[in-house]
Amino acid sequence: AESEEHTTFVVLGASGDLAKKKTFPALFSLFCEGRLPRNFTIVGYARTELSFDDFWERLSPGLSKVGAFFCDKGTLSVRLRGMSHICLFPDKFRERCTYFCGQYGSPDDAARLDKLLQDKHEAKFARANRMYYLALPPTQFADAVRAFKPLAWSQKGWNRVIVEKPFGHDLPSSDKLASELMAVLEEKEVGPTQTYRIDHYLGKEMVLNLMALRFGNVAFTPIWSNHYVANVRITFKEDIGTEGRGGYFDKVGIIRDVMQNHLLQMLTLVAMERPASLLDEDIRDEKVKVLKQIAPIKTEHVVLGQYTRSEDGKTPGYKDDPGVPADSQCPTFATLVMFINNERWAGVPFIMKAGKALEERMAEVRIQLKDVPGGLFGELARNEFVIKVQPNEAVYMKIYGKQPGLSNEVEQTELDLSLHDRFDIDRLPDAYERLILDCVNGDKRNFVRTDELREAWRIFTPMLHTIDGLAGGDAMPVTIHTYPFGSRGPPDSDALVQHFGYKRTTGYTWKPKKKA
Ligand code: BG6
Repeated sequence: AESEEHTTFVVLGASGDLAKKKTFPALFSLFCEGRLPRNFTIVGYARTELSFDDFWERLSPGLSKVGAFFCDKGTLSVRLRGMSHICLFPDKFRERCTYFCGQYGSPDDAARLDKLLQDKHEAKFARANRMYYLALPPTQFADAVRAFKPLAWSQKGWNRVIVEKPFGHDLPSSDKLASELMAVLEEKEVGPTQTYRIDHYLGKEMVLNLMALRFGNVAFTPIWSNHYVANVRITFKEDIGTEGRGGYFDKVGIIRDVMQNHLLQMLTLVAMERPASLLDEDIRDEKVKVLKQIAPIKTEHVVLGQYTRSEDGKTPGYKDDPGVPADSQCPTFATLVMFINNERWAGVPFIMKAGKALEERMAEVRIQLKDVPGGLFGELARNEFVIKVQPNEAVYMKIYGKQPGLSNEVEQTELDLSLHDRFDIDRLPDAYERLILDCVNGDKRNFVRTDELREAWRIFTPMLHTIDGLAGGDAMPVTIHTYPFGSRGPPDSDALVQHFGYKRTTGYTWKPKKKA
């Protein structure tokens, strides 16, 4: 029974950015939703000497927004019943948290943690589970698990480890990291320890929805191939720059930051075949299969950019970010094209575009269908099936219909499923909430398997190595175009996309009816 079971969440790197902005707020939301196990403890683990109060103080900005939402909701329902109300969520959650100062690779500290958990939190329970969330730089993963596994693993329940990107910077370094980790941990479906590699895009509502849309409807099945699809575009735009993260970002660049992982995951879900079942390994097998059919990206199919000061001169450029070297050749923007060599997709360009400091914040998948043959109504814009991942989560299909009234003209319109219009939702859970809950439930379908990661790096590595040559001062194999902060990115990107047959549908633009 659940009442005889205790679960500990150990968040390593608890004083870092990820823990503050994502992990703790997600745990807190799950708590307010009543989704965490009944008996649980959260241990914030970091190297900094901190009192619990100081630690809590650091977490507060991230937690207060969540608290405000759930407390308002609670207050409302209590007020409707005419009672007075004190919101207990923050205090109740705080009681379950504790701070532990320790080194990540230290056997002594691991043993100390184990003793604390056994004596103070787990003693009266028949079963005790431990989830280790490694909000750490990957260089510390292996050291941490090597120290923790022999000394701080629960002997009477499951042990699961969540890790976060970057998983290496190319195929060889990723392989090395994976084999170090797998030498200690296991990835198998059954086994005492399991590894969960997070790609937080896999926890986003509309990314999860891709499977339901594709395999829960018969309507899209016939059009989902090179017979009707002209091209697929996967776009990620941010309207902010690197803002102080420049020192980190300069070693990574936009391709490694979001394309090799987040955007490729979306591509995989669009392109893969129907899995044998919804079980984790059946889904992950299909994903690996389609990735294997993608050829490495050609350097000539890539356009790179780096943002400069905004046109009005008010917003600084990438190189103005402290931590970015004055001669940096790091791309903050990229458009690239890849092909899938199978019967379904041969010849269809999959076009990815991603950039920082662009004109808006947006992520979407856009499947553009071929032109209508015959030209009965003259020249028409193409049908497009769009999955808006953020903001304003929606699925819509751009189609033509007759202009209402006495006219005989056709006019662009859409079939529209805007989540916030159709469903009564006051809040969509953050991707991290969903993924942490999946891990508690032992569900790995939305986590990245090692062979999947390998394939992702195989597709990107040769091109990345060529681009990296830029920084080495070799003959420039790829040009880095500049674009002003807040613009659409370098014009060469549009030229590449057009070259691969994408036609921009002008005229009518879809707008959300209700803001999320
Ligand atoms: C992260 C990248 O993985 O994803 C960031 O490192 C990026 O650079 C972020 O901003 C985008 O995630 P989201 O959920 O805000 O779209």
